[in-house]
Amino acid sequence: MKGVILRGFRNFVEDRAGPSAWSEIVQRTSLDEDFFVVAHSYPDTVAFALVEQAAGVLELEPDQILRSFGRHWMHGTGPRSYPQVFELARRDPVGFLWRLDQLHDAATRNLDGARPPVVRVFEDDGGDLTVEYASTKRLPHLAWGLLEGLGEISAGRLTVEAPEPVPGRPQCWSFRLHVHSKEPSWI
Ligand code: HEM
Repeated sequence: MKGVILRGFRNFVEDRAGPSAWSEIVQRTSLDEDFFVVAHSYPDTVAFALVEQAAGVLELEPDQILRSFGRHWMHGTGPRSYPQVFELARRDPVGFLWRLDQLHDAATRNLDGARPPVVRVFEDDGGDLTVEYASTKRLPHLAWGLLEGLGEISAGRLTVEAPEPVPGRPQCWSFRLHVHSKEPSWI
């Protein structure tokens, strides 16, 4: 998993429960270092171990942690790391979603070992969206929090329903997104 995600996870834990909670999680995970280089890729096992230990320290279920972290990333680490991309996300969240696959590709193109999810978007007749998330990492609750965060940073222009597994595709989940305002804002 790319360092920008793991560094974001540290920011999330520290904002929620303070630096001592993060130290406790790192100690329990037996990591040699707790500083993540944004452009570096780390084994997924590190990310999964951090979430598991965070669940114990923060007394939350791993899925709750992933969902809260996703929302937090969209408000903090994400926009700090990719300011231009987030300008689009705030102004035109629907246009942003149509480009998300391309953005993931660009954000990970030169990184050995990074494998972003595949995100496909379908629009229905009424203008609402179905977003399909497919990943070998199987993190639908993280995707859920990220999508919720997108709704929040764009002033509620969209809201998201809980993920549903896609039948016959074990690494794929779909989300219904209600679009409340399709027009991009220009300010
Ligand atoms: C609502 C918006 C977004 C959603 C739903 C989303 C979804 C996800 C998920 C669920 C993951 C975890 C890996 C996986 O499940 O395979 C991930 C990883 C990642 N995302 Fe996003 N993402 C969003 C926005 C962004 C943005 C704006 C960027 C930056 C331009 C970005 C860059 C990355 C990177 C670099 C990774 C790490 C990939 C890796 O290390 O293999 N994402 N994304």
